[in-house]
Amino acid sequence: MRLLVTGGAGFIGANFVRHTVADRPDTTVTVLDALTYAGNRDSLAEVADRIDFVHGDIADLDLVDELVSGVDAVVHFAAESHNDNSLAEPWPFVQTNIVGTYSLLQAVRRYDVRYHHVSTDEVYGDLEPDAPAFTEDSPYNPSSPYSATKASSDLLVRAWTRSFGLRATLSNCSNNYGPYQHVEKFIPRQITNLIDGARPRLYGAGDQVRDWIHVDDHNRAVWDVLERGRTGQTYLIGAEGELDNKTVVRMILAAFGRDEDDFDHVTDRPGHDRRYAIDATLLRTELGWAPHYRDFAAGLAATVRWYRDNESWWRPYKAGAESAYAAAGEQTLGS
Ligand code: NAD
Ligand code: TYD
Repeated sequence: MRLLVTGGAGFIGANFVRHTVADRPDTTVTVLDALTYAGNRDSLAEVADRIDFVHGDIADLDLVDELVSGVDAVVHFAAESHNDNSLAEPWPFVQTNIVGTYSLLQAVRRYDVRYHHVSTDEVYGDLEPDAPAFTEDSPYNPSSPYSATKASSDLLVRAWTRSFGLRATLSNCSNNYGPYQHVEKFIPRQITNLIDGARPRLYGAGDQVRDWIHVDDHNRAVWDVLERGRTGQTYLIGAEGELDNKTVVRMILAAFGRDEDDFDHVTDRPGHDRRYAIDATLLRTELGWAPHYRDFAAGLAATVRWYRDNESWWRPYKAGAESAYAAAGEQTLGS
């Protein structure tokens, strides 16, 4: 299979490309990535001579048309992906997540290329603590510019599939963790703070709940959907990994042998979603998927080791990420 992977220099895309090259020698991979602040070619260094890397924008219609004309399938990871950035400056989210997806849809429509759309559970909004988990039938109710633009892109895919007969599938996954995640995100930020001798930073009271899944389990599900998913179908991806943020911070502190209260409460995120949770019954029963990483503490410990062992990968980004949080007005509220 000739595969075009957008956003392959980002966190999930790079892990996807690395595993695809290692496990699927019959697949040829072309990566299209704009190398924004979130893209890092070093994440692909070990596979650089086994892929084609194209530095470009998914919203570039001519470039996308040319690349899509030469492949059998597209897996679309590229996005502006961080909620906090979308609150500070929404425009890149509209441009990349909506206009960029439009550009890909027009090309796969023209060449009748198989298309898989990678999305997030955040399109469904948030849940009360005791509400049932999201399913494929949950109503769209996004809270932030990030989730609203991802929801918009999902709706474009659904409309193009129904009106133009696209051979498309969608997946909406919960929060990922693992290697190569940008230090602006929750888990890598706290790990690298601790490596630097600083304290973890918890938004508000820290009682928000996220449903954590290892990035490799997400990517195995993407392959399952790409190969065996039904056209037009959405599959929710999650590994029953619900934890509140304070518990996760305490687990990270434990991995460093630090006191469990050794963190700071900082300014909360405006509109902060209370809880996400995934019911992945369809993915499990129809496609037979199951997570390999069932022990979050073990997966987290491996992730801590990865950041300890790969400081040269994240170090260039750390000071800038912390400056951005300070510039956005993040204040320490207390410990
Ligand atoms: P990321 O921010 O780490 O990586 C995004 C990549 O896209 C970067 O390499 C960046 O350079 C590239 N990119 C951005 N704009 C581009 C453009 N206009 N043209 C080409 N490339 C561009 O994101 P991630 O965490 O790897 O997320 C990947 C996808 O998975 C996104 O669609 C996101 O919505 C979805 N998702 C993420 C999570 C999560 O927990 N991180 C969970 C569910 C779904
Ligand atoms: P994040 O990694 O930004 O993912 P998302 O917003 O997509 O869930 O944040 C995960 C959770 O952690 C979210 O509830 C916000 C919270 N958070 C903190 O408490 N402190 C931090 O420094 C960051 C970046 C996030």
